[in-house]
Amino acid sequence: MTRTVLTGIKPTGTPHLGNLLGAIRPALRLADDPAMRAFYFIADYHALTTVRDRGELARLTREVAATWLAFGLDPERVLFYRQSDIPEIFELAWILACFTPKGWMNKAHAYKARTAENELAGAPDVDAGIAMGLYEYPILMAADILLFEADLVPVGEDQKQHIEIARDIAQRINHAYGAELLKLPAALIDAGTAVIPGRDGRKMSKSYDNVIPLFAPPAALRKLVNSILTDSTAPELPKDPASSVVFKIFEQFAPPDATFALRQRYHDGIAWGEAKAALTAVLEPQLAAPRARYEALIAEPGRIDEVLAAGRDRARALAAPVIGRLRSAIGIAG
Ligand code: TRP
Repeated sequence: MTRTVLTGIKPTGTPHLGNLLGAIRPALRLADDPAMRAFYFIADYHALTTVRDRGELARLTREVAATWLAFGLDPERVLFYRQSDIPEIFELAWILACFTPKGWMNKAHAYKARTAENELAGAPDVDAGIAMGLYEYPILMAADILLFEADLVPVGEDQKQHIEIARDIAQRINHAYGAELLKLPAALIDAGTAVIPGRDGRKMSKSYDNVIPLFAPPAALRKLVNSILTDSTAPELPKDPASSVVFKIFEQFAPPDATFALRQRYHDGIAWGEAKAALTAVLEPQLAAPRARYEALIAEPGRIDEVLAAGRDRARALAAPVIGRLRSAIGIAG
């Protein structure tokens, strides 16, 4: 039986190596499984909770779309679209909101983290500076998922609660109308997905300013690799691969025999400069072809728009009966 796998990509930063390993590669592998029907979309309206520069939102959306296409997303096989192109998502979000107890949103992690910050800062209002969009974020995400009757939602651990909320809301609606109007989704959390360290050793993340972007030109890539934090062990002395950022990134990209060989060189004593050169040598050939495809797409954004427009039409055709079924169950003239 074919299962629908759906995930949203929030365009909040320029894509980096961590995104490739943590999200793009695993998602594209899943989409290759003949037993799966994949829906991958750009969650641009979710990004609006943080990205407030219109040029930036437009640029990031295009960059993210081009990145997935450059790494081999086949839009014939994967339904690839932009959230903001699907009005049915926003209609469903309202319906869902009417069935979501407000208290559930009070318990959502992202919202709770923000009120906790306010509390800590001694703000008289714990909701100071928090927009309704952030508060309702989980409802919009539930609409993304439920509209397309997703079975599986690949996400990171941090998004697990959102999938549970989507299930709970769907159950409430099904129960309220005594019918299986909405399909209950499940989170797919890949325990094997590597957390890749950034240049400073912390998790690679835009917010730590420690990323290695996927499409840095070769010279810039080399420079970024050379800026990875190392210790001051003398060049000829043995080094510990397990605590080396350079090694940890290397092993994610290199075949096992090359990783084995580099581990040996660490034990024998390798200069950091050589270890970094080995990392650049393994990254560059893997990034060169996607970089060329990416640059071609960015130079011709009309092609990206065409792909997304085709995805929009297919997605809306699938959304129409689901929204229609809900409308008639609720008593809204369709
Ligand atoms: N909230 C997700 C994130 O921050 C992005 C997202 C939006 C999403 N809608 C979704 C993920 C629907 C899975 C399904 O990464």
